[in-house]
Amino acid sequence: MATGKIIFFALCLLFPCYLSHEDFIDLRPFLNIYKSDTIERSTVALSSPLSKYTRPKLDDPQTCVSSKDIVIFPATNVSARIYLPDISDPEERVPVLLYFHGGGFCIGSAFGFGDHSYLTRVASQSKVIIVSVNYRLAPEHKIPAAYIDAWSALRWIASHRKGGVEPWLVNHGDFRRVFVGGDSAGGNIVHNVVMWAGRQKLPNHVRISGAVLVTPYFLGSKPVEYEAKNFTNTSVYKVWKYVCPSCKYGVDDMHINPLGPGAPSLKRLKCKKIMVYVGETDVELRARGIWYYRGIKASGWKGKLRLYEAKGVGHVFPIFSPEDQESKKLMKRLAKFLQN
Ligand SMILES: *[C@@H]1O[C@H](CO)[C@@H](O)[C@H](O)[C@H]1NC(C)=O
Ligand SMILES: *[C@@H]1O[C@H](CO)[C@@H](O)[C@H](O)[C@H]1NC(C)=O
Ligand SMILES: *[C@@H]1O[C@H](CO)[C@@H](O)[C@H](O)[C@H]1NC(C)=O
Repeated sequence: MATGKIIFFALCLLFPCYLSHEDFIDLRPFLNIYKSDTIERSTVALSSPLSKYTRPKLDDPQTCVSSKDIVIFPATNVSARIYLPDISDPEERVPVLLYFHGGGFCIGSAFGFGDHSYLTRVASQSKVIIVSVNYRLAPEHKIPAAYIDAWSALRWIASHRKGGVEPWLVNHGDFRRVFVGGDSAGGNIVHNVVMWAGRQKLPNHVRISGAVLVTPYFLGSKPVEYEAKNFTNTSVYKVWKYVCPSCKYGVDDMHINPLGPGAPSLKRLKCKKIMVYVGETDVELRARGIWYYRGIKASGWKGKLRLYEAKGVGHVFPIFSPEDQESKKLMKRLAKFLQN
């Protein structure tokens, strides 16, 4: 036994990986990466009260917003939570917002408590129908699964202009006012969907009217102004290679770095107006949000572009703290944005 141990340690000196390599990379709150190549979802996120499954309600007593869950793509089991605001006139049509939740493409859900309470308020205050998609997540479903589900969901919504299966959309959706919105990874999905719309048409002549990105998730290997020096040491930076192992350029892949090598001009963003929101204390992603806004501006994109910075709040603030003054301000701006 003793000899075995000595040989083992001698080997470790020759191949330091045996000793010094971590058995485990902690990418909280997203993933746990084990040396054995096993990747699993971090339990930190699953235990957050904001992730707790919340039942939909057919008539929320405070807002009169109704919500329900439906499977939109049986083949992939992609479902969505749909919100219908209080509409008394049976003929009335209201804008449609397709929403993508955040969570680094690995965690989060359209059915969590945080998203549910935020989107119930948005549906009520903005008087819009919201379709919040439970797109597929890594590590089981790597990029581009999330983007494919997002684009398919947008096509699914557009298909309701002439028929369709979802009565709330058929009866009350105004398909001249279709918007996309999301926070964090959901904001990244918004960008990719609007770029996709620049290359491919939607059914029934539906167009994206506007896009809202709240504390969006973008990366890049070159630091940008205001970025923390240790940005590359954060989970949000490191997790991308596990979320998209097939991305040739890593964090410079055009889906996560919209100004990366080979990325098409941001001029091709196919919608009329874009609102980007950053949080002042979002140390990890605030700088990238501002950088993205400046990138669109510099591209010569023709449309109405706005950047807002919420003071004293951080990443995905309207979901973490919907009662904050800044979240209320955001919801007011959103109501104007979606109604005009
Ligand atoms: C389908 O998704 C729901 C929640 O989105 C989940 O509860 C269910 O287990 C899934 N079914 C399959 C067959 O994966
Ligand atoms: C990087 O993160 C590790 C823990 O995850 C920490 O021990 C180390 O000090 C960090 N390095 C820098 C430069 O921040
Ligand atoms: C980055 O540095 C800040 C302070 O300089 C520290 O609070 C934070 O934990 C660091 N993050 C990582 C991931 O190392």
